[in-house]
Amino acid sequence: MTLQSTTIAAVTATQFREAMGHFPTGVTVVTSVDVNGEPVGTTANAVSSLSLDPPLVLVCFDRASTTLAAIRHHGAFVVNMLAAPQRHLSANFARRGFAAAWEGVGHRPGFTGSPRLHDVLAAVECTVEYRLPGGDHEIVVGRVRDVEVAEEGTAPLVYWRGGYTALDGTGTPPPTTLRATA
Ligand SMILES: Cc1cc2nc3c(=O)[nH]c(=O)nc-3n(C[C@H](O)[C@H](O)[C@H](O)COP(=O)(O)O)c2cc1C
Repeated sequence: MTLQSTTIAAVTATQFREAMGHFPTGVTVVTSVDVNGEPVGTTANAVSSLSLDPPLVLVCFDRASTTLAAIRHHGAFVVNMLAAPQRHLSANFARRGFAAAWEGVGHRPGFTGSPRLHDVLAAVECTVEYRLPGGDHEIVVGRVRDVEVAEEGTAPLVYWRGGYTALDGTGTPPPTTLRATA
């Protein structure tokens, strides 16, 4: 059967965002280094594993993202997966450009120079393999070079329907045991 495009009503951005908001995700802060060697980062949930062999991940960035601009230049990034008590970091790194504060945010450089945030659930350090067009976003495919994971029992930060929640949907995160990453 051939669908007539004229019979399909256009989906608005609001409808699309609302529908996709029903898909719960973890929350990451993707970090890199800008042209001046300063750390940069953005909150991102459009993150997925892509391939096991070779190990690849993908992140979708708004084309206006200053973190994306830094990654294009630096050629490397870290996907830092946030734990439940790190909601404040999600808010901090959702601020545009250099508005995100680094003061008080514990981090150390990974071997590509990109910042690894302290106390995250897991960190996946990548070099840029490909960059692909994605409408008003750009898809960055990263080759995984190193990974680090927290001890079991650490609860994730979860984003769902425009807000933060726990895995059971009650809004009360389960008890966590956080490991300080050196
Ligand atoms: C929970 C959450 C998830 C987000 N996911 C993404 C994402 O996957 N890609 C993206 O480009 N922006 C995402 N954003 C928005 C960016 O964090 C925001 O636009 C930020 O200001 C961009 O900063 P930058 O320009 O310094 O990179 C998300 C924001 C929140 C709160």
